[in-house]
Amino acid sequence: MITIYVTDLNGNAHEIQAPTDMGMNVMEAIRANELPIKATCGGMAMCATCNCIVKSEHELPDMSEDEEAMLDEAFVLEIEGSRLMCQIPVSDTIDGLEIQMGELTGE
Ligand code: FES
Repeated sequence: MITIYVTDLNGNAHEIQAPTDMGMNVMEAIRANELPIKATCGGMAMCATCNCIVKSEHELPDMSEDEEAMLDEAFVLEIEGSRLMCQIPVSDTIDGLEIQMGELTGE
């Protein structure tokens, strides 16, 4: 299990736990912890409604072209730390990750 610190759109801080042995991504971990997130495409890097801003200094996998294109299309690519949560695998390397949920995740 790892811990991820999530600030929601109302500015409330949440500490969620996620298993590293289930092939989950951060979007799914947020869903599993019942925080509201649209994530319309279900994790295919096709909607940007799982966008977030990474606040901590963790080393994350490089962005794929699809992720970069989607963040660009959603006009959030230029925001520092902007990523799609569904493209970040839950693993030991992101233990303690701090993220702010992005504007597009809400209604
Ligand atoms: S859930 Fe659609 S891009 Fe992540």
